[in-house]
Amino acid sequence: MCGITGIVTQDRNDIGRLLVMCSRKLTYRGYDSVGVAAVHRGKVYLKKDVGTIDEVDARLGLSKMPGDRGIAQLRWATYGAPTQVNAQPHYGCTEEFYGAHNGNLHNYYEYRQELIETGHTVRSWNDGELCVHAVDKYYEQTGDMFEAVRLSTRDLKGAFAYAVGRADTQEIYAVKMGSSLVAGVAPTETIVSSDLPSILPLTNRVVYLDDGEMVVLRPDSVKVYRVEDGKELNRPVQVSNVDPHAAEKGGFPHFMLKEINEQPQVARDVMGLLHSNESEEWLRLIEDASHIYLVACGSSYNAGIVGTYYFNRLAGIPVTPAIGGQFIPMYARTLTEDSLCILVSQSGETKDILNVLKLVKREGLGKTLGVLNVIGSSLMFGADAYIPMGCGYEVSVPATKTYFSQTVIFADLAARLGARNGMLDQSEADRFVSALRDDLPRLTQETIDRTGILAKNLAPTLMGEHDLYCLGYGLTDGVAREGALKIKEICYNHCEGMYSSEFKHGPLSIVTDNYPVIFVTTTEDSWMVINHINEVACRGGRAIIVGEHEDSLTPYVKSKTDYLVVPKSEVLINPILDVIPLQLLSYFLSVDLGINPDLPRNLSKTLTVD
Ligand code: BG6
Repeated sequence: MCGITGIVTQDRNDIGRLLVMCSRKLTYRGYDSVGVAAVHRGKVYLKKDVGTIDEVDARLGLSKMPGDRGIAQLRWATYGAPTQVNAQPHYGCTEEFYGAHNGNLHNYYEYRQELIETGHTVRSWNDGELCVHAVDKYYEQTGDMFEAVRLSTRDLKGAFAYAVGRADTQEIYAVKMGSSLVAGVAPTETIVSSDLPSILPLTNRVVYLDDGEMVVLRPDSVKVYRVEDGKELNRPVQVSNVDPHAAEKGGFPHFMLKEINEQPQVARDVMGLLHSNESEEWLRLIEDASHIYLVACGSSYNAGIVGTYYFNRLAGIPVTPAIGGQFIPMYARTLTEDSLCILVSQSGETKDILNVLKLVKREGLGKTLGVLNVIGSSLMFGADAYIPMGCGYEVSVPATKTYFSQTVIFADLAARLGARNGMLDQSEADRFVSALRDDLPRLTQETIDRTGILAKNLAPTLMGEHDLYCLGYGLTDGVAREGALKIKEICYNHCEGMYSSEFKHGPLSIVTDNYPVIFVTTTEDSWMVINHINEVACRGGRAIIVGEHEDSLTPYVKSKTDYLVVPKSEVLINPILDVIPLQLLSYFLSVDLGINPDLPRNLSKTLTVD
C-alpha cells in the first residue's frame, strides 16, 4: 500500500513544508521511498528517493521546496523495485504533468507497452507512472484536464487511486477507483489524501469519496464528480472527530507501546459502541444467515479465530473462518443468497477483503457485515452494515488495539446471540456482558501493568532464538497465532502459531534441549494443555507459559521468567487478556534487537494490493 497527498494553496509558497508535514502521517502506509512534486512559478520541480520521509527530506530538502501546489507520495513497493527511478511522483512524457498513485494496475505490462509503442517516454518500472501518462494521453486528445483525467480511467484496470496536476493549471485532480481517498477543506488550502491522518494537521473538515468518483481541488473549493459521466455530485463537508494527536506518540517511545496502552480505553469505547441501537441489525444479520463466514487477514484473521470459538461456545453458532485471499478459491461456490460474510478489516481497505465484498455484492451472494475501524473506508461504504471498532487511528504497522477490539466485539456479540437463541441463560449472558463492560477495562490495565515487566525480563532471554512455536488451545488458538505473528512481524524471527494438540503430530520433532515453545492457556483448558506442555518439557524443551498462575503448571517452567502470569479473571475473559503479554514480549524483543516495531521492514499497515 502507498500514501498519496495532494495540496492546492491560496498563494502560499511553502508547499514542500505542507506536503512533508501531512505526508509524514502516512508513514505507516509505506516507507520504501518518498517524493514531492511542487509547482513553483509555473514549473514542476520533482524530488524523490528511497528511504523514509525523514531520511529523504534530510537528503533532498523536500520540506524546503517552494510552490503553491503539489503532490507527495510514500511508497510500499509492488510493481518495480524500491529504487529512486521507481519512486513516486512521476512526470508524464514532459515535465508538464506530475502525479502519483496508490494501488495496483493489473494491466500494467500491456499498457506500458502500448504507451511506449505510441510514443510515450516511460521512465520507470512503476505502475503509478502510467496513471500520469494516461492523463497526458487524453490531454493531448482533448486539451482539457478534467476530461483527460476522467477519460484516463478507461485505460487503467485494477484497484487504485491517483492524483495528477499540470504545471499550467492550478487544480489538482484525483480519482478513486478501488483504493482509499479522502479530501479536506482548510482555511487557505484544499487537500486530497489516501488517508485521514494526513488531512488532520490542516483541517478536520473532510469530504468522503466513493469508488468511481473524482475530486477537483481548487485553492478554495473541493468538488466531487462521477467519473462515468462527469456529473457533479453533492458531497457535503463533514467534520471528523478523529483526534489529530492520534497520529502522535504521546510520550511513548513507539506508537505500538502507546496503542497497547490504549487498550483499556478501547475496551470502554467498543463496549459503548456495541450497545448502541444499531446492534439489533448486526445480531439479526447473524441470526438470519444460513451460513456465516468470517473473512479477514493478518491480525484480524487471528481475532476472527478467537471469535469463531466464542460463537460456538456461547451461542452454538457455527462460523467458518477464512483467510481473505483464500476465501474466493476456497468458498465462493458455497455462498448462497442467505449467506453472511463477516468481513473483518481494521483499515477497511485490505484488497483481499474488498475482493470478497465485490464478489458478494456483484453476484448477490448474501449479506456482508463489516467489522472496521476506519470510518469512510471502502468497506464501510460497501458492506450492508458495519460494526465500528472505536479504536481511534492505529498508526503502528503491527496491529494491537484493533485486534483487541475485534476480540471484544466477538465475545459480546456471541454472548448476546447465545441469550437470544437459548444456548446461554440470559443471566449468564448478562453477567458476562457486564464483566466485559465493567471489569475488562480494569483487568486490561492490570495486565499491562503486571506483565509489562515480566515481558521485558523475558525478552532478552529470547534474543538468540530465531525459531520457536506459540501454541494455543480452544479460545486461545487465535491468541497464540497472534502472538506468533507479532514475533514474526517485528522481531524477524520465525515463530509458528498453531494448535497445541496438533503439535505432537509432527512439529514436536523440532524440540531439543531448551527449544522454546510458548503455551497460551486459560484456567479452563490447562488440564489439557498440561499434557502438551509436558510433551515438550520431558524432552528438554523450554516451555514458556502465558495465562493465570496455576500451581499445576509451575513445575514445567524452567524459571519464573518463563511464566507470563496474567491477572485472575473470569475464564471467558482470559483469552482477551492473554494477548497482552505476547504483544509486550514481541515489542520489547523487537526493541532489544534494535528494530523499530512501528515500521518493520517489508511490511505495510494496509495492503491495498493483491
Ligand atoms: C497487514 C498489517 O498488512 O494487514 C496487519 O500489517 C493487519 O497488521 C493486516 O492485521 C490486515 O489489515 P486489516 O486492515 O484488513 O485489518
